[in-house]
Amino acid sequence: MYLALKRSKRFLLFMPAAVLILSCSGVPMNAWQWSLPPGVDVPEVPADNPMSAAKVVLGERLFFDNQLTANQAMSCSSCHHRSKSFSEGLSFTVGSTGEKNRRNSATLVNLAFNRSFTWGNAELEHLEEQIVIPLFGTEPLEMGATGREQEILQRFKADQTYRDLFASAFPGERDAINFINIVKALASYLRSLNSFNSAYDRFRYFGDSNALNESELRGFALFNSDKTRCSRCHSGVNLNEPIDTQRLAAEDTFHNTGLYSFDVARKFDDGLFEITQRADDHGKFKTPTLRNIEVTSPYMHDGSINSLEEIIDFYAAGGRLIERGWKAGDGRAHPNKSSDITGFVISAEEKRDLIAFLKSLTDREFISVN
Ligand code: HEC
Ligand code: HEC
Repeated sequence: MYLALKRSKRFLLFMPAAVLILSCSGVPMNAWQWSLPPGVDVPEVPADNPMSAAKVVLGERLFFDNQLTANQAMSCSSCHHRSKSFSEGLSFTVGSTGEKNRRNSATLVNLAFNRSFTWGNAELEHLEEQIVIPLFGTEPLEMGATGREQEILQRFKADQTYRDLFASAFPGERDAINFINIVKALASYLRSLNSFNSAYDRFRYFGDSNALNESELRGFALFNSDKTRCSRCHSGVNLNEPIDTQRLAAEDTFHNTGLYSFDVARKFDDGLFEITQRADDHGKFKTPTLRNIEVTSPYMHDGSINSLEEIIDFYAAGGRLIERGWKAGDGRAHPNKSSDITGFVISAEEKRDLIAFLKSLTDREFISVN
């Protein structure tokens, strides 16, 4: 994994060359219209990869195409299913050659608004850097492009539809079918995956005070309460940022929730610490979005919690005690556990309300396969 990251940095060194070609070409990009609710600002996009409709169309085709994988056994969509808000429904994903990834495939929704990518790395702040990992990563191997770049590119070069799509996405470039552009198109497609049509959105952003029923409203109040403290970490456009924080750094969205004991986390997956090597970061993971949470189980970085009921039991207990097995240990006592994971008493009715609220975050239109 770490090697893959270093590789991604190297890969990015080649980016400026492409930027130059783009800006010298003088051809206007076809415009992109963001469709956002009132009060949500247009997200920042890297200057060297502005949005365009043509890039989104190309990126979408590539995302679902097995030809992007060296052995043609899978595409991005093999691990990111639209009906599951682009998550996978498995605790661990398996790459194109059968190698296991220790982490749970992430949901891909409103990514343009996220500060960093992957469960454990606060430094990956641009989608362009993240996408290099499944494509070229060797630890674990996912799509296996490393060393087989020309063979993969040849498939697209031989295909007239792709030749046309690359030409309109990257007008004026002589050799447009290359990995820099593949990554740019995929990033543009991912940025276009916006979801703002849940009952919660209608209530929160579109002023429809009837969009949430009584139970959902009670759940929303509990979510924001001092008792559960959910909104302390799950706020903002994607419910994945701390509440009331101006000029937030990506690292501020990483927390230890008491999922594993210090020893267990250290041995198996230590989250942010693996990147920063700072003692404070043992067992810290990125706060994930709660959008479409109803359809993205299993939950947590390793898919170790199966249902929303169990999620609430987990927070009510102030972390997790695992009594038996190879991950036995008391996560509640992890020295880095956040001071907002305090545990609380919750009635059966309150639990139903909280879950009803979490389900009001589902955008049915977004997850429907068209
Ligand atoms: C073999 C399964 C697999 C394939 C294939 C795959 N992914 Fe993923 N994806 C994952 C896993 C697992 C994670 C979480 C990784 C982590 O946090 O370390 C992830 C995370 C991501 C993220 C980060 C999301 C976030 O909010 O942090 C993005 C973006 C992403 N994938 C895009 C893609 C794209 C684009 C492709 C195709 C080029 C792709 N993935 C192919 C399994 C896969
Ligand atoms: C201290 C910050 C913090 C608080 C408070 C908090 N969360 Fe979380 N939440 C996180 C982090 C970090 C994760 C990911 C943990 C991991 O994977 O190791 C997470 C994961 C989740 C997930 C799983 C998401 C997924 O895609 O796997 C759900 C659901 C969730 N939280 C709901 C809640 C609810 C409901 C509350 C209140 C009862 C709450 N959270 C309170 C930080 C917090």
